[in-house]
Amino acid sequence: MARKKIALIGGGQIGGILALLVAQKELGDAVVLEIPEKEGMAKGKTLDLMESSPLLRVDSNLSGTSDYNDIKGSDVVIITAGLPRKPGMTREDLLEVNLKIMNNVATNVKKQCPDAFCIIVTNPLDAMVYSFKKITGFPKNRVVGMAGVLDTGRFNSFVAMELGVSVVDVAATVLGGHGPTMVPLPRTCTVGGVPLTELLSQDKIDAIVQRTRQAGTEIVKLLGNGSAFFSPAVSAIEMAESYLKDKKRILPAAALLEGEYGINGYYIGVPVLIGANGVEKVIEIKLSDDEKAALMNSLEAVKKAVAETKL
Ligand code: NAD
Ligand code: LAC
Repeated sequence: MARKKIALIGGGQIGGILALLVAQKELGDAVVLEIPEKEGMAKGKTLDLMESSPLLRVDSNLSGTSDYNDIKGSDVVIITAGLPRKPGMTREDLLEVNLKIMNNVATNVKKQCPDAFCIIVTNPLDAMVYSFKKITGFPKNRVVGMAGVLDTGRFNSFVAMELGVSVVDVAATVLGGHGPTMVPLPRTCTVGGVPLTELLSQDKIDAIVQRTRQAGTEIVKLLGNGSAFFSPAVSAIEMAESYLKDKKRILPAAALLEGEYGINGYYIGVPVLIGANGVEKVIEIKLSDDEKAALMNSLEAVKKAVAETKL
């Protein structure tokens, strides 16, 4: 079987870690595409990684380019092209400049990779994935946004830290837009099969929900320049791997809703099943009145950002 081809559009902080993970997991060959001014950086990073592959004992060809012809026929495209936040900025502050970038990227991906499974990471996430879908016209099962896996990973980490237990045993989900209105669902969280609500007081759970909503901003403040990149890369790779290996994992991600959760025509975070056909299913959870209201509040924030795209 020929190796899979994975195009990584944007070779910055997240793009570099994505390339490392593609190689380490031997998911296929990766091409990192950058703007012409940074083609050398993309070539340098990928050559550096290639030189580590004998030590990692993995076979994966990695290359850097600024020429879209080089990503032709990719099976998976992961897009991180765009500006990250600086302290004091919201994700929405990035909309204007990242929309221009997404326009260019989507037009080229449409031409070169018409059959790819596309994972969008660029912020503001829910508006960027919406824009990519509009511009490419790709079917909804092949266009998905990465945010829920990361937001859930953060929630699960905080639960494990608080309880002093293995992160492996914590399972939860976070719905909604990728921003402060996101909707962590502690009610659905279990730790080794035990409901979280039986392990932590409501005050402690509320504090974890609040920290999760602000977790991206917490990292932006600490880094001082740029945003989180290790965990976003690992999150996007979970999604790519489920597609490439037809694992059929249920992962929270921004999917185009057409009636599910009473939402129509918007991308927003919900649990989805990812397999060989991409987003094969949107899973609907029965929500309480409060949870429903929180999701609708988050939808309003998503709608506002989408309206600004004028698409
Ligand atoms: P970064 O600045 O390190 O890398 C972005 C790269 O994109 C840069 O190297 C830049 O040269 C490149 N780029 C710009 N325009 C391009 C174009 N037209 N074609 C190809 N490449 C182009 O930023 P990063 O830390 O890797 O973050 C990337 C994006 O991901 C940001 O928008 C950030 O806000 C977002 N992000 C999203 C999540 C999420 O959960 N969805 C999490 C973290 C970061
Ligand atoms: C995050 C951003 C930047 O780390 O989207 O969540």
